[in-house]
Amino acid sequence: MASIETVRTAAALRHRIAAWRSAGERVGLVPTMGGIHDGHLALVHAAREGCDRVAATLFVNPKQFGPSEDFATYPRDDARDARLLAEVGAELLFAPGLEEMYPEGFATRVSVSGVTEGLCGPHRPGFFDGVATVVCKLLMQALPDAAYFGEKDYQQLRMVRRMVADLAIPVDIVPVATVREADGLALSSRNDYLTASERQNAPTLYRVLSAIATRLEGGQGSVADLTVWGLGELEGAGFGPIDYLEVRDADTLEPVEVLDKPARVLAAAWLGKARLIDNVAVRPAR
Ligand code: PAF
Repeated sequence: MASIETVRTAAALRHRIAAWRSAGERVGLVPTMGGIHDGHLALVHAAREGCDRVAATLFVNPKQFGPSEDFATYPRDDARDARLLAEVGAELLFAPGLEEMYPEGFATRVSVSGVTEGLCGPHRPGFFDGVATVVCKLLMQALPDAAYFGEKDYQQLRMVRRMVADLAIPVDIVPVATVREADGLALSSRNDYLTASERQNAPTLYRVLSAIATRLEGGQGSVADLTVWGLGELEGAGFGPIDYLEVRDADTLEPVEVLDKPARVLAAAWLGKARLIDNVAVRPAR
């Protein structure tokens, strides 16, 4: 059976990773909040391909949950998560307690402006600061060569890239394509909140995003018209409230009105108790 060593302190984590790196091995870090599914396992697979050693982290970060969000009910099964991560080749797991990450007196907040201001930003106050703070800390604790983030959380990925560039953190940020169910639904720990009938309608989100991207690429409609069409489709499938459905620049996340650069169609919408997010790439015709 595959084994994984679990460490609880930053000192132990840094010691193990530094030993690998000083032996000339490239180390990849996969940050997670647990609730491991195939999307996380794809991050580990990518890290295995790009690195000699893979470390994962498991910490349900209270700073990125709002007061009415699902911190208390977020899936927690450390033994299962460790087993799944080990099976795909992660060798080290950093699973710190709250005291290790945010000891008494902790007073620092990392805040990235610009890319965090639209999309999920206004709907989840404090979320991006919470993610930036914990990811910055995890990267400094681990000091890996590379860290892996899923494209499903596209705004988070852009924010982490911005933060690492701005703070000159010496790590390569590697994006990994979204893993989907056969019907297109992006994998997420929060999909478990869907009822059976909501689960049937959930792939509409990806279908709408993909249709908008295809039509924009084919010159079959404007950003404004296709967005209105997409909102109607989502409402018709029972989504609501719809936090946003937008086309944004793939790098800066500035709003796009005319498709003249690589862009992303992004949405966040509630289906019952689940807030689903997803996005797809859209490229201008050459
Ligand atoms: O994407 C996530 O699971 C979390 O936001 C992360 C990056 C592990 C930080 O807590």
